[in-house]
Amino acid sequence: MQLAQRILEVPPSATLAVNAKAQELKKQGKDIISLAVGEPDFSPPTEVKNALLEAVNEEFFQYLPVPGLTELRQAGANYFKRFYGAEASFEEVMFSNGGKQCLYNLFQVLLNPGDEVLIPAPYWVSYPPMVQLAGAVPKIIPTSLENDFELTLEELERSIGPKTKMLILNSPSNPTGVNYSEKKLVALAKLALEKGLFVISDEVYDQLVYAPSIPVSLSRLWTEYKDQLAIVNALSKSFALTGLRVGFVLTSKNIIKAMTKLQGQSCSNICSIVQRAALVALQGDFNFLDEKRKLLRERRNLAIKLLNNLELVCPRPDGAFYLFPEIKKYFKGEIKDSTSLCNYLLEEAGVALVPGIAFGDDNCVRISYAVSQEVLVQALEKVYHALKKI
Ligand SMILES: Cc1ncc(COP(=O)(O)O)c(C=O)c1O
Repeated sequence: MQLAQRILEVPPSATLAVNAKAQELKKQGKDIISLAVGEPDFSPPTEVKNALLEAVNEEFFQYLPVPGLTELRQAGANYFKRFYGAEASFEEVMFSNGGKQCLYNLFQVLLNPGDEVLIPAPYWVSYPPMVQLAGAVPKIIPTSLENDFELTLEELERSIGPKTKMLILNSPSNPTGVNYSEKKLVALAKLALEKGLFVISDEVYDQLVYAPSIPVSLSRLWTEYKDQLAIVNALSKSFALTGLRVGFVLTSKNIIKAMTKLQGQSCSNICSIVQRAALVALQGDFNFLDEKRKLLRERRNLAIKLLNNLELVCPRPDGAFYLFPEIKKYFKGEIKDSTSLCNYLLEEAGVALVPGIAFGDDNCVRISYAVSQEVLVQALEKVYHALKKI
């Protein structure tokens, strides 16, 4: 059977090759350390786990309203008030299967064929294919290491054309970990909003920002720009609940209605028992995150120190759990890009990293430090020795 054109046009994931190879080497009995993971290594709070168990025991298994239980949507709205002072009603919040489905729904209900979506690179892997699946055109804006991979106002202004419909901002960023200052993020958003663009702010790492840096949310602009703004968040990274698939979005009632229609015709409500756990998480105490942030900040410091030994340059990330160093000085002979370098490191050092090309920058690799300090030291020492051989 011939597959549909739209899926044929979506490029295969650049991370798949490295992952498949890592699996193959593991099967052969090789010792492989993965610094390629995109999830935290801590546990969610006990009360969140208990809420899941209670919901199972109560057989809370029925269909629910498509956008989520009203009390959960209210808890989602309260989140934006509690952390960022944004006044939102439950009707302006909807729950989907992870931040990912929130983004997918937004693109599907907002984009028409030919619309252009501005995506600053390095970007999270799924933005361009999701935009393409909505029939629109991803327009990548390269940023520079000299500016810590932050988009500048000039770069943004230059990129806006007659077909531009939307801008995606992501802070803290996957893959760079960079957290914009409030002044910079708001200035970028306002430039786009005042030119009539729709702005999506992907804030799934907002709870993982390290002091003295503070998280910034574009929900601060909520009251002024309701019709042009969507704030995407999730419990995946902050509560270490990646597999439960809980994402929520703040946007106008009209867009929420459209996304409810779409989700109602595709997968309906997110898992019922998961909604009960999500409610406990959102209504609960976020203080447990202080210790996690401290731990991640220590690992960040350690990883940066180890990278300095390798004379690799990368922005000092203030959030998430990734580093995105430039490695192009090691491109020699057979090693000609980020993919061949990652393949080499996998074979020679037994360490899996993600090639930067997956994030739109072939001169870099992504290193996740969501592993213990011992594993981090072990892995980066192996990388060090392998790179010295090039
Ligand atoms: C920047 C960014 N946005 C969205 C997502 C999707 O998150 P979720 O697992 O909640 O779908 C991820 C996951 O890695 C991410 O890194």
